[in-house]
Amino acid sequence: MPKIIQSIKAMQQQVKTWRKNDHLVGLVPTMGCLHEGHLSLIREAYKHADKVVVSIFVNPTQFGPNEDFAQYPRTFEEDIEKCLKEGVHAIFNPTIEDMYPVPQTTWVDEEELSKGLCGASRPGHFRGVTSVVTKLFNACLPDVAVFGQKDAQQALIIKKMILDLNFSIDMIIAPTVREYDELAMSSRNLLLTAEHRLNAPQIYQFLKQIPKSNVRSTRTLQQNFAEKMSAIGGQVDYFSVVSKDSLLPIEEIEEENTLIAVAVRMGPVRLIDNIFI
Ligand code: PAF
Repeated sequence: MPKIIQSIKAMQQQVKTWRKNDHLVGLVPTMGCLHEGHLSLIREAYKHADKVVVSIFVNPTQFGPNEDFAQYPRTFEEDIEKCLKEGVHAIFNPTIEDMYPVPQTTWVDEEELSKGLCGASRPGHFRGVTSVVTKLFNACLPDVAVFGQKDAQQALIIKKMILDLNFSIDMIIAPTVREYDELAMSSRNLLLTAEHRLNAPQIYQFLKQIPKSNVRSTRTLQQNFAEKMSAIGGQVDYFSVVSKDSLLPIEEIEEENTLIAVAVRMGPVRLIDNIFI
């Protein structure tokens, strides 16, 4: 059974005990509602660490005032079962009061990579992410931390934060795991209506055909994507063609340097996906 640890002090103490025995510690930060994508991150963590901690914390500071913090699925009992099957050593599951005991006035804010894509449509989101990931790093003191490629912008920002703030942590980015019909796995998929769930795989179907097609213009791709999404009841939040390192916009798709990232609203649910060219 994984140890369920709520307090930051107890978590730090546990890691210090492991480290005394020369164990390397891996952290998989999550907001719970664990699915096969998260489990692949846990398996990846085991390749690099002796003890694996999964943090489960739905972080309020990365949700905007009109976003789905209250609706975000919470399935803690099932999450424990899944962690048990994966042999996870500890689940760090702090309360909001444990993580934010006093009104917070110190924040970690990445200023370049977080401007576009999700950063543009979710103001303050990445400040919440980088701040909570810093707090999770300080609580769980990992040697290695594993994040998913599905959140490509988040992964890039955290990588930069680790570099900028001299965290002594190896970051691993693991590939996106997909459902049987290639919809990227996400806890939010549970919130889709049956019809939206049926149509949502078309997001990746569109992305997947781009490298094979000869359309290279970002503008044309944006128009085609918007039409396709509107036909299935989706509304494009963004379709961005950017440099995979700087996230700066690219007008014509280039070989080897391009990230195409999208966000689509299907009813109240916002889905993201991406593909590297
Ligand atoms: O990717 C997520 O689930 C969250 O943004 C993270 C990294 C756990 C921070 O709350």
